[in-house]
Amino acid sequence: MLDVNKELRGLVSEDGAVQDRRIYWDQEIFELELERIFARSWLFLTHESQIPNPGDFFTTYMGQDRVIVARAADGTVKAFVNSCAHRGNQVCYADSGNVRSFVCNYHGWAYGLDGSLAGVPLEKEAYYGEINKSELGLIPARVESYRGFLFGTFDPQAPSLPEYLAEMAWYLDSFMAVPGGAELLGPPIKVRIKANWKFFAENFIGDWYHVGWTHAAGCTVIGGVTAAVKGNVRPAPGYQISTNFGHGFNAAFLPDGSVPSLHQGEIERRYAEWVKSREKVIAQELGEWRSKLYNAVWDATIFPNCSFLRGIDTWKVWQVRGPRELEVWTWTLVEKEMPDDLKEMIRHTNEKTFGAAGLLEGDDGENMEGNTWTAEGYITRKRPLYAGMGRGHERSHPALPGLLNTDQATSELAHRRFLKFWSQMICAESWDEIIEAQHRLAATAPSPRSDEDRAAAMGK
Ligand code: FES
Ligand SMILES: [Fe+2]
Repeated sequence: MLDVNKELRGLVSEDGAVQDRRIYWDQEIFELELERIFARSWLFLTHESQIPNPGDFFTTYMGQDRVIVARAADGTVKAFVNSCAHRGNQVCYADSGNVRSFVCNYHGWAYGLDGSLAGVPLEKEAYYGEINKSELGLIPARVESYRGFLFGTFDPQAPSLPEYLAEMAWYLDSFMAVPGGAELLGPPIKVRIKANWKFFAENFIGDWYHVGWTHAAGCTVIGGVTAAVKGNVRPAPGYQISTNFGHGFNAAFLPDGSVPSLHQGEIERRYAEWVKSREKVIAQELGEWRSKLYNAVWDATIFPNCSFLRGIDTWKVWQVRGPRELEVWTWTLVEKEMPDDLKEMIRHTNEKTFGAAGLLEGDDGENMEGNTWTAEGYITRKRPLYAGMGRGHERSHPALPGLLNTDQATSELAHRRFLKFWSQMICAESWDEIIEAQHRLAATAPSPRSDEDRAAAMGK
């Protein structure tokens, strides 16, 4: 048994750079993740556009809990655990659809679109009218929407979704608060990979380092901003940004202001045309910085297990299946006001690169399985892992929230802060403790190094 107070605190070093490999392997630590990370965080469910009408539903997971997300008759979105209060059967086996109620296969208990128990066969005759249906609804989760992106949490003490997204929300607005907003195209593609979920979350939060190496062959095919880093000959131009509550991302810019993307040919041309046509209005509504971020390739993670890439426009959830396996769910991220044929072109790039047989998905999956399964070795497992790239070079920025690496996007700042927050969450007894630990961390954040530095940052 792990001693939570002694041993857990040592699993990740104070600055997040060194990690005990058991956090990517151990069943006992995974059980704690279910309790302390997945049952307490805001987890991505789906996009509102996927369930537009009353009766529409989508089935997903929150941690390993099976969950139904449904639009109720009054138009509100509810989420509840997909397990009957009678003998536990799954009450809905479909991935999505439209229903008037959820009726359990086993004995026919019927639940409303809000998860309440509406009907019990033989209620009078066999239960003698003594069953208290109001206590036997499906276990509810809190649901909140951020600009149409639906998240759920099981924890009544968790801060509101905007408080949880915090500084990251300011950045997300660069593409979610554009005229018309953003949406996802579904249904998600689902792939099983035998790896620990955190390797993927870290990879998406800021691993430009692997792009030119792991994907060297893919970079040749894709071209653009990836071709510039092929073979790891130079760091990626741009910023790495880590915000509070463990979220973070890379924004890679092209120095000449042209539109970086991983689209190709006609799709690249149409995408670039679209981005350029929106830059001005975004600058007016959201300011110059977010207009600049709008015209960047992003790789990002919203803590704990939702990641996305802008400029390739894939949106992922790393669904956990134990410490050594996950299911990767992939949607396509588009802007609502894009013409339909452009949306379909973007879906095509996403499927070609990050779908089930995607050009880049396969490269990553192989690495993540290697990262995970080498820990099978008893001696191997004793060697901690190291994510110290750029340590001490992070700084705050006069115009941009969070901590940044502004020299280049190639850094492991966001890895460290993701893992640091993971550690804070896994050690904390309550959300009050988590928030206090975040405040302590923020108080130690470095400020811009000098006036010249500040001026240079403002000019960038
Ligand atoms: S298990 Fe659902 S009705 Fe019996
Ligand atoms: Fe990758």
